[in-house]
Amino acid sequence: MTSLHLHSRGRLAFSPHTVSPLLRGLILQEPTRKLAILDIGTGSGNLALSLAPHARRVVGIDADPRALALARARARKMRRANVRFVEADAETIAYTRWHPGMVVANFCMSRGIIQRAGRALPPGHTLVFACLHSDRYRELHVVPQRFSYHEDEIHRWLRQAGLRLEHLSVHRETHPLRTLAQARRFLGPHGVERWQKTGRWEKMERYIQRGGGPVTESWLVAKARKE
Ligand SMILES: C[S@@+](CC[C@H](N)C(=O)[O-])C[C@H]1O[C@@H](n2cnc3c(N)ncnc32)[C@H](O)[C@@H]1O
Repeated sequence: MTSLHLHSRGRLAFSPHTVSPLLRGLILQEPTRKLAILDIGTGSGNLALSLAPHARRVVGIDADPRALALARARARKMRRANVRFVEADAETIAYTRWHPGMVVANFCMSRGIIQRAGRALPPGHTLVFACLHSDRYRELHVVPQRFSYHEDEIHRWLRQAGLRLEHLSVHRETHPLRTLAQARRFLGPHGVERWQKTGRWEKMERYIQRGGGPVTESWLVAKARKE
């Protein structure tokens, strides 16, 4: 098992909508051409579409019909005939109906998703995912976001689901934020709106008023194999 902590300063590698080379590499180490891959929380299909040329077939599931419409349009445009997008709640549906040979997820993760992957995967097959780490924005003392976890709980849930951990790395980026203009640029216009609605923007304002400092982005990448 690999367990790593990686830290970079001021470099903008993180986005919950891009597929990291590490995640892609961990997936493509497997014999994906022979596998049916199930992408959980596929959104507009970033991961599913990037894996399609390397897989037997890919099913992407998501609860958001608008994101799925975009994913289907992208699949048509890219002529990816082996990808299908299905509207489903990943925390209530059984994955066995898709007979997945691999389950993947890019920033959509929960204990229920891990349990379902554990039930659906045949022995020797893998779950590979990236998700937010509960350390994200720790300097601001905001409530950890939905789908953000500490590596210890991920480790425990994988074990309980009969999945043996092969890789777990925690990634951190620090962003120096000293002015509100920097904070706005960091979050983007939609981010600021979301933070205002959820009361988190006030915490950011207070942090900046006290002189600001580093703000940490934090996420983890994991791969586990069904026993
Ligand atoms: C941060 S986005 C990531 C999207 C995509 N994986 C990507 O890499 O661009 C999280 C996605 O998870 C989906 N999601 C959240 N909860 C879900 C659930 N219970 N069932 C299915 N999809 C869910 C959201 O609709 C959203 O599209």
